[in-house]
Amino acid sequence: MYKELKYAEGIPLVDEEKNEMVVTPWEVRGKVDYERLIREFGTQPLTEELLQRIAKHTGEFHLQLRRKLVFSHRDLDVVLDLYEKGIKFVLYTGRGPSGPVHIGHLVPWIFTKHLQDKFNTRLYFQMTDDEKFVVEDELKLEETKNFGYENALDLIALGFKPENTFIIFDVEDVGLLYDLALEVAKRITYSTAKATFGFQDSTNIGWIFWPAIQAVPCFIHAKLTGENVPALIPAAIDQDPYWRVTRDIAQKLGYYKPAQIHCRFLPGLGIGGKMSSSEPETTIFTIDPPEVVKRKIWNAFTGGRATLEEQKKLGATPDICTVFQYYYYLFEEDDKKLTERERQCRNGEMLCGECKTELTERVNKFLAEHRKKREKARNIVEKFRIKR
Ligand code: TYM
Repeated sequence: MYKELKYAEGIPLVDEEKNEMVVTPWEVRGKVDYERLIREFGTQPLTEELLQRIAKHTGEFHLQLRRKLVFSHRDLDVVLDLYEKGIKFVLYTGRGPSGPVHIGHLVPWIFTKHLQDKFNTRLYFQMTDDEKFVVEDELKLEETKNFGYENALDLIALGFKPENTFIIFDVEDVGLLYDLALEVAKRITYSTAKATFGFQDSTNIGWIFWPAIQAVPCFIHAKLTGENVPALIPAAIDQDPYWRVTRDIAQKLGYYKPAQIHCRFLPGLGIGGKMSSSEPETTIFTIDPPEVVKRKIWNAFTGGRATLEEQKKLGATPDICTVFQYYYYLFEEDDKKLTERERQCRNGEMLCGECKTELTERVNKFLAEHRKKREKARNIVEKFRIKR
């Protein structure tokens, strides 16, 4: 069990002055201070006791639990209390399709899949082609809809099953969402929305209404089945502002407050910040060809020394190395091997070139398999739609 969180704390920027943390649903930059986020967002840390409680039900410590990649929550304890009394929950997560999926997006989806398999619950997955259209100036609606379809293939490629996974494509499925969105929107004032999301006079009104739509899948299970159960939302912590406003109004509508389990951000391959589509050279997309992956990893920011001689003599610093973080988050399951890699790095026994080459091979192997599954998924997307 990793008690020390040093690898998952974000990469320090060289210039601390410019290192101001910004975490919103639309932008994440600077060195992410997760403890500060817990304090400022008012969430709860994921305690050892809660980790044990999850593991009691799942029968194992998933990588993201034992390495503390999931670190914070709201009402996870309440959801588990209900579950232990026989009241199930549903999972809800999503994607804003503004471009291809990157491997950072896979982090919460992999954990969602684990929870779904172990708790045998339904997943509602919202594909927000409408959000990305109103928020991103340069994107046309046809483009976000198309990315929505392409991104759904990435989700399905992770092995989600159509029997209990329901993908909501907002624009096409708006009829399913609209009445609940109106109920939500009517109960959130402009001043709350402005304070929560930082809306300005220049913000378009589509964007201002939008949070009501992201709230809806928290309650959609009750609408579809008549069964009123809580929703648990696994996602990175950038999405938390939505849940703050949704939690405020949930009980007024007769529903449970949605619960959350928050994960850390997979960093980009550069200095500072999370992996983000807006920084393509430091982001690995699932559709990147092998040579592109190789180039990106080869140019990654590492904790290496200026010269080989220095590195062999003094060792390197995995704490600030992006390459090491990729092993930590996704590409080294085995804790002992991870610890050994860290030791060799610190001692100067393993050099950055070797570590990068091995990571490139692992990422490309994973992506080759993923892309095969992605292509197969094209034939079955319809099975994941909600029939009306
Ligand atoms: P989007 O497309 O920005 O992100 C999709 C999911 O990926 C998470 N994420 C990351 N996780 C780890 N490392 C990263 N570098 C990283 N970058 C992004 C996000 O937290 C998110 O979980 N508005 C949403 C779409 C949405 C949604 C939801 C997301 C609708 N309903 C419910 C989560 C839960 C969006 O644009 O996500």
